[in-house]
Amino acid sequence: MTVNVALIGYAFMGRAHSNAYRQVTPFFSPRLTPRMKVLCGRDGRKVREAARTLGWDEAATEWEAVVTRPDIHIVDIATPGDLHAPIAIAAAKAGKVVFCEKPLANTVREAEQMLAAVTKAGVVHMLCHNYRRVPAVMLAQQLIARGDLGEIRHFRGTYLQDWIIDPKFPMTWRFDRRRAGSGALGDIAAHVVDLARFLVGEIDEVTGDLTTFIKTRPLPGQPGKTARVTVDDASTALVRFRSGAMGTIEATRVASGRKNHNRFEINGSRGSVAFDLERMNELELYLESDRKSQRGFRRILVTEGGHPYIKAWWPPGHIIGYEHTFTHTVFDLLEAMADDRVPEPNFKDGVINQRVLEGIERSARTRRWVELS
Ligand SMILES: NC(=O)c1ccc[n+]([C@@H]2O[C@H](COP(=O)([O-])OP(=O)(O)OC[C@H]3O[C@@H](n4cnc5c(N)ncnc54)[C@H](O)[C@@H]3O)[C@@H](O)[C@H]2O)c1
Repeated sequence: MTVNVALIGYAFMGRAHSNAYRQVTPFFSPRLTPRMKVLCGRDGRKVREAARTLGWDEAATEWEAVVTRPDIHIVDIATPGDLHAPIAIAAAKAGKVVFCEKPLANTVREAEQMLAAVTKAGVVHMLCHNYRRVPAVMLAQQLIARGDLGEIRHFRGTYLQDWIIDPKFPMTWRFDRRRAGSGALGDIAAHVVDLARFLVGEIDEVTGDLTTFIKTRPLPGQPGKTARVTVDDASTALVRFRSGAMGTIEATRVASGRKNHNRFEINGSRGSVAFDLERMNELELYLESDRKSQRGFRRILVTEGGHPYIKAWWPPGHIIGYEHTFTHTVFDLLEAMADDRVPEPNFKDGVINQRVLEGIERSARTRRWVELS
């Protein structure tokens, strides 16, 4: 059966999602076949051009009209954060499957409204935390769930970038709290929070710190004019997991030299794992059970047929990349739709994630630990 997709937004994530819809059927043969029906943006000429380049049947400029079209099955939201809630709620009311980019919303309140809307409508929903679907990350999760690392004691997650380190980098929606909700926190710490929850479990308490180093940015097309940055450039947090494990979560977009350094290390009573997105086909594993003379971190090349998702791609050692994580996510969404079940992460995960982010913000303001209920 064919399912028609409407994608709202055609820039960075719009391109990544378009590629995923193109690749998923030839490589994974999902039970449902996505048809790239409508691409939606604001500028008619640009969105028509993008639809042609990316392979969509039609282009549109009014998301309100697109999400209620009877021929649309999936509404995919790849817009700035302030549009996630209105689009998702309208799509749910129209009975559509809703696939939304992270962070789910700009506030906990909005996230809760989105969850209520998809729950009331009884529609399938999914949140795009694509890093869960890196095969090496999935393997780490399987090792932890099987108990191979023993009792988990430490989660150490860092997400470091430097793309806004130049003070001349211009103002965009990402520096505006009303549009983005927060800065490095919602943009990239949200991914680390999701990985922490996926790998170690729920977070009960947080204490955090946020900073904006570059307080104004030039306004594009308005020489000499600047606008105030209303989000953080960097965030750090200590977290306490329900299991008793301790964690640290750091995210910054001004760590010079670091491009997309999404790394975590997890230490348990019987072993450790470490992952770095910039070497995403590898997982480092250390096991106490190894013979003493041979103990040390080993590097697993996560490209064997038995590793998650790999069989659909290439023979062992023929590595995969960033874009594959979106194909895996879309495949799991389509399979969940075929079973009429809600996959993970979903809007409930989005609400919990948002509570952690808001807890970090509150702690940064009050300089105290915050308990998450
Ligand atoms: N999963 C990931 O790893 C990842 C990576 C980057 C961004 N994101 C998330 O994806 C979302 C989009 O980020 P991006 O980097 O693609 O942003 P972007 O600025 O590159 O693209 C935003 C898109 O939204 C469209 N848009 C804005 N207002 C619109 C409107 N009123 N109607 C229709 N379209 C509109 C723009 O035309 C543009 O195509 C954000 O929520 C962001 O946090 C996720």
